[in-house]
Amino acid sequence: MKILVTGGTGFVGKELVKLLTKKHEVRCLVRRKRVKNAENWVGDLTDKESLKGICEGIRVVIHLATVGEVNAVSKRHYEKCLKTNVQGLKNLLRECEGVERIIMLSSLIVKKPYHSAYGDTKKMAEEVLTSSSLPHTIIRVPLICDWKEPKGEFKRIVKMVKRGYIFMLDHGRYSIDFVSRNKVVEEILKEVETSSKCKRKVIEIVGKSLNFNEFVERVMEKYEKKKVKRIKLPFVLASPFIFLADLFARFFGFVPPISFGRAKYLHEQDKNAPAGI
Ligand SMILES: NC(=O)c1ccc[n+]([C@@H]2O[C@H](COP(=O)([O-])OP(=O)(O)OC[C@H]3O[C@@H](n4cnc5c(N)ncnc54)[C@H](OP(=O)(O)O)[C@@H]3O)[C@@H](O)[C@H]2O)c1
Repeated sequence: MKILVTGGTGFVGKELVKLLTKKHEVRCLVRRKRVKNAENWVGDLTDKESLKGICEGIRVVIHLATVGEVNAVSKRHYEKCLKTNVQGLKNLLRECEGVERIIMLSSLIVKKPYHSAYGDTKKMAEEVLTSSSLPHTIIRVPLICDWKEPKGEFKRIVKMVKRGYIFMLDHGRYSIDFVSRNKVVEEILKEVETSSKCKRKVIEIVGKSLNFNEFVERVMEKYEKKKVKRIKLPFVLASPFIFLADLFARFFGFVPPISFGRAKYLHEQDKNAPAGI
């Protein structure tokens, strides 16, 4: 079967393509980087013209390409995310007529109550796909962790643990849900092989859930770090600074260490968690 993969050069995509090419013919939408053992289609989701004909001969599309950062809240980031995650998907869908199915990787962030350019546009992307007539599967995943190649939010935690000190909000009783990259790839492959009659499907991979403290301990174990100083930042004291950082970030277009909305959400979780965990 011939499969189109977007985001094949990314963190999940590169591992997925390695396994997909063992059994299928794979075409990858690429920008500057190239993908080994696959047909490379040079284009960009934001450039309609470059996508013309990309789905010729394709039976399944796996859409992974995305931009964004969980804490980004500025107008600049919203515009960037809208352009790729929402308009980019619309551009791709215009080419998908005749495709049997589209499998899109999404995030469990779409269910969270706080806003971010990434979370909001992932939610909008889901709406774009569900309102199309294309048979599709949406796979929502939590934070993806790979111990050998930490990325994003996980990389920030690993870096702090390696340095020997970590900043945390309140008592660190809020939960971190995570899943391994192998598991995500495995689920996508399973979905490719399932000749689903179901036109619309949403799969949620919940993965493992640990509170922040337990998660830090797991990271310490993995990286054989014996001692890590935990610097607790009570929300009541930290919130004015978080609020200001969020405000400046919106104004000057940078990504704050944590958005105010997300900090507030974690604080509520921490407050409501049973003491002692
Ligand atoms: N990583 C996580 O913890 C996590 C958690 C939940 C959900 N997810 C979801 O999983 C999927 C894959 O994430 P990932 O971590 O593998 O992402 P990633 O490493 O950041 O890779 C993003 C990919 O998208 C491509 N891309 C970005 N903008 C593009 C554009 N305008 N046109 C074409 N390609 C473009 C990039 O290509 P270049 O190489 O050219 O930049 C790259 O291949 C995403 O949908 C993400 O929302 C990830």
